[in-house]
Amino acid sequence: MAKCLVIDNGSLSLKVGFSSQDSPKAIIPTLVGRNRNGESDVIAVGDEASERRAELLVSSPLSRGVVNDTAWDDMERLWRHAIDTVGVDPSETRILLSEPYYFPAKSRTKLMEIWFEKFNARSIASCTAPLLSLLSSGTSTGVVVEIGESLSNVIAVTSGGVERSHGTYKNFAVTGNHITDNLCRLLSFRGFSLGTRSAVGREIVRDIKEQLCYVAFDHKEENDLSSTLEKVYTLPDGAEVRLAEERFQATEPLFNPDMLGLECSALHTAISDAITRSAIDMRRDLYSNIYLCGGSSMFPGLPDRIEKELIAVAPPKAPVQVVHERTAPYSTWLGGAVLGLLENRKVWVHDLDYKELGAEQTASVETAPCNPYA
Ligand SMILES: Nc1ncnc2c1ncn2[C@@H]1O[C@H](COP(=O)(O)OP(=O)(O)OP(=O)(O)O)[C@@H](O)[C@H]1O
Ligand SMILES: [Mg+2]
Repeated sequence: MAKCLVIDNGSLSLKVGFSSQDSPKAIIPTLVGRNRNGESDVIAVGDEASERRAELLVSSPLSRGVVNDTAWDDMERLWRHAIDTVGVDPSETRILLSEPYYFPAKSRTKLMEIWFEKFNARSIASCTAPLLSLLSSGTSTGVVVEIGESLSNVIAVTSGGVERSHGTYKNFAVTGNHITDNLCRLLSFRGFSLGTRSAVGREIVRDIKEQLCYVAFDHKEENDLSSTLEKVYTLPDGAEVRLAEERFQATEPLFNPDMLGLECSALHTAISDAITRSAIDMRRDLYSNIYLCGGSSMFPGLPDRIEKELIAVAPPKAPVQVVHERTAPYSTWLGGAVLGLLENRKVWVHDLDYKELGAEQTASVETAPCNPYA
């Protein structure tokens, strides 16, 4: 069986590796860097762009899972860098890519063009990210709650299918990016304004968030305890930042998005709505398999808080259970790796089909086989 290279296209990082492995071989920052006035060609990609962010103007070509219209060349560079990093020739391996739930046909067309025409790929699959995440859990029914860097969704999947017209998809708006911004703002009240002033400062705040933030089980009770929660973060120059209530206040908008002025449902409400809009005979299964994934699912306390809030709004005997695996930060990639082993699934587009049908037809919404369960 030909090898399969799996790339989960995230706006913070590309997760890249082979389907025979159980974790990505490389995690590449989704960044390109140009000179400070932004006028030069790209001079650094991936880790190098990240390390040189103080000196360069860095940007991510991806936002909310979609490549910005003017950034396809940057995306191509990143993919080329990914291929080089793991050392494969796309003409000798199958390529499986993740795409967001709502992926414009014109984006898929462009993606096919790049992979078939620039990289000479032989076979490609571009599959819906939340469905890949569910596939990694080994089930075909569940609520996928994915919280990434610039994209979060809640989606109820029954027997591998999503009934779009029933509204079982909720575009839940609070992302890791919002939580980093919120922590920047909270820390600036303490006189630490680095996060609001520079790209390097913001990166430090992101690290503080990942190291020290968590989700309170009860926000009000936690506020009363806040003086005992103090932790110290040591900055690269040896200075110290103290955090107490900021540790859980930063994440609270997940359950109270209006704290950030966002007009979207709270996380537990989005989950509950997705379930109650699904077929009545599937709801018990959905309540008992709420599958939490994405990098921003890693805050300690998040699964317990979701369970608590859901139990409060669910029917009395609903078997609420949140599943959160150690592999949650890369479960989309992992689902791709499982699917990559199944060469006979109908997700593959081959170079011969592409040549015969052309990019647009191959990538059209009706024909694109982006559902890994199909
Ligand atoms: N241990 C952690 N605790 C809390 N947040 C974390 C942790 N590790 C990573 N994150 C956050 O997860 C987010 C990145 O998640 P993820 O890798 O799923 O995003 P992505 O796939 O690159 O982006 P997209 O939103 O486009 O899917 C960032 O906001 C990051 O700060
Ligand atoms: Mg992602």
